[in-house]
Amino acid sequence: MIRFENVTKAFKQNEVIKNLSFEIQDGEMVVLVGPSGCGKTTTLKMINKLTSPTSGRILIDDQDIAKLDTVKLRRRIGYVIQKTGLFPHMTVKDNIEIILQIEGIDAAKREHITSEMMRIVGMDPEAYLYRYPSQLSGGQLQRIGVARAFASDPKIVLMDEPFSALDPITRAQLQSELVGLQTRLKKTVVFVTHDMDEAIKIADRICILDGGRIVQYDTPENILKNPANEYISDFVGRKRIWNIPELIRVRDIMLINPVSCTRNTTLSECAELLGANEINALPVTDGENRLIGIVYGADLQKQSDRTGLVGEIMKTEFPTTAPEKNLLEILGFIRERQLDFVPVVDEENRLIGLITSKNLMTVLSQQFVDTEGER
Ligand SMILES: Nc1ncnc2c1ncn2[C@@H]1O[C@H](COP(=O)(O)OP(=O)(O)O)[C@@H](O)[C@H]1O
Ligand SMILES: [Mg+2]
Repeated sequence: MIRFENVTKAFKQNEVIKNLSFEIQDGEMVVLVGPSGCGKTTTLKMINKLTSPTSGRILIDDQDIAKLDTVKLRRRIGYVIQKTGLFPHMTVKDNIEIILQIEGIDAAKREHITSEMMRIVGMDPEAYLYRYPSQLSGGQLQRIGVARAFASDPKIVLMDEPFSALDPITRAQLQSELVGLQTRLKKTVVFVTHDMDEAIKIADRICILDGGRIVQYDTPENILKNPANEYISDFVGRKRIWNIPELIRVRDIMLINPVSCTRNTTLSECAELLGANEINALPVTDGENRLIGIVYGADLQKQSDRTGLVGEIMKTEFPTTAPEKNLLEILGFIRERQLDFVPVVDEENRLIGLITSKNLMTVLSQQFVDTEGER
């Protein structure tokens, strides 16, 4: 775990980091994002002691890094920057292996690790091991930079705008590869960018900085849904969440407190409820609001005698969904199963909401109307 405790940093009289306190958990990818000059690089450089705080402490696994040996500390921390920092006179192989060599790892093992890392970042070792940096494209250089940072198996990897100079397609590829790499290797990654799209795509948590202060530190989902202030909502773009349907949950769009009946509701009452609410099915619950069935309007139509009870005609086999499901999943589910009515239940099978094809249409179309209106 990395912990900043009341960290400030001043260059002469100019305080650029202002009383920063936050934590990064092991195995987490945290993205520091904010406009140019807000203090991202300075924050990152304090973690590997390329610069030191004016006051406050930084702890790694509860140890104050000011008291740790700088060289040993840096060996445990991979570092990737925009201009990869590869040594031009060394081959790709030697560049990746440099820390492993310093650590005295034997040649066979080094080569094994290097080839493995190259494959992970999408570079064929056969073709590239003995090339020099000047013989590689920008994207390939950054891939090697990433391979080098992860090769010595550090606990922490710091990345300062590593993909900013790349074309959008290469950049998107490297972002996906980094996410894959991180999922496999479970490093603690601190990644700096000024690009909110990049942050949303790769971060477990995003730390938004402005003027040397944290303005919000949360998951991409929560930042998109509840931007802490005007600055952030402008920064993330008001409608951006609608561009990422994975972030819209059933609980955000379901009808809450849906009408329901019990097994002892009479069919005539049930027919009235259906008509009054303009729905064609009704959830049936027990005394504790647990979902036990659905009564369909179509089945009700077939009953000439309306004095019977719901319990006699309700269906007890039916699809349900959970509040955490996302918009894409629920749309797929509804299309595949040809549903127009899906009750939403919690872990204890309690009825908490309802998704109908009509309310989905309303939710989706409203977004288009709003967006049009804003233009
Ligand atoms: N070595 C330095 N000497 C003086 N001022 C610096 C130095 N490094 C950074 N700064 C200043 O600190 C502020 C934050 O810089 P930096 O951390 O590089 O921002 P970012 O990475 O977010 O663009 C800027 O105003 C910058 O000019
Ligand atoms: Mg910077």
